[in-house]
Amino acid sequence: MLRFNNRETTNDEALSRLRSAAIGLVENSIAPYSAQPVACAAMLSDGQWIPGVRIESASFSLAIPAVVNVLSTAVASRRNDVVAVALSRPAKEYETSFLLNSYPGPFVKAEKDLFVLANNRSIPPPSAMLSPFLADPRPQTAEEGIILAKSMSRHASVRESQFPVGAILDCGDHGLIPGVNVEHEDWSRIICAERNAIGTAISYGLSDFEAMYLACDKDTTASPCGACRQIIAEFGGDVPVYMDRGDAPPEMAKPGQLLPNYFAGSKLRQQPRR
Ligand code: THU
Repeated sequence: MLRFNNRETTNDEALSRLRSAAIGLVENSIAPYSAQPVACAAMLSDGQWIPGVRIESASFSLAIPAVVNVLSTAVASRRNDVVAVALSRPAKEYETSFLLNSYPGPFVKAEKDLFVLANNRSIPPPSAMLSPFLADPRPQTAEEGIILAKSMSRHASVRESQFPVGAILDCGDHGLIPGVNVEHEDWSRIICAERNAIGTAISYGLSDFEAMYLACDKDTTASPCGACRQIIAEFGGDVPVYMDRGDAPPEMAKPGQLLPNYFAGSKLRQQPRR
């Protein structure tokens, strides 16, 4: 029995519905290599919830865990009020250790697949899935997209580096998905703005992208890191990536220019699972 406040039945029901939401999202997880898809659902204080799925890369160490994906979506959506996280299956040690030291959070483990805020707040019943889209209209020019990416970067969670990055992923008629870098005390668990945005899009079932806009005020010569280049190459299709260049016009590069001859894992996927 969960005991977070004196309405524990409500919390139990809410968490069990959140768990069902996580299980319902598993089909959006991309796990062709492990054949073990994972999803999670993050409950916000008003009952809206956020999906997050595991995304595996052919470059194995770049897999985005569902727990990282869901919390970085929360930060980019400016919804840091996550009160609980449910997984689609019992948490592994790496997921637990992430959630026990994460922002938003930290969380405590309530059940094998459920985590709640350490200060035991009451959990609302899940209502609607949070919309991931910005209210802004689609940019008509690269400059307009960069302005949006710059304003997104102000919401980055950069306790370790003080190096905020903002991304906007234009998903055509669906809308604009934001991304920011979200840091963790363990440097190896940081997620970049670009991967945050792509991870959000995939969690919501989107895979067609019109453009990506990137801004990083502290370095207007910067371009995506190697990890992001791999993920953009694997999941971005032919998306043009526009980078802020300060007073100069934005620079554009296609995934094939950012990472020529990337490892796509196509033969890997054909291997039978042992
Ligand atoms: N960062 C990004 O968000 N995108 C990149 O392509 C390069 C690096 C972030 C990650 C980390 O929070 C900080 O910048 C320093 O690497």
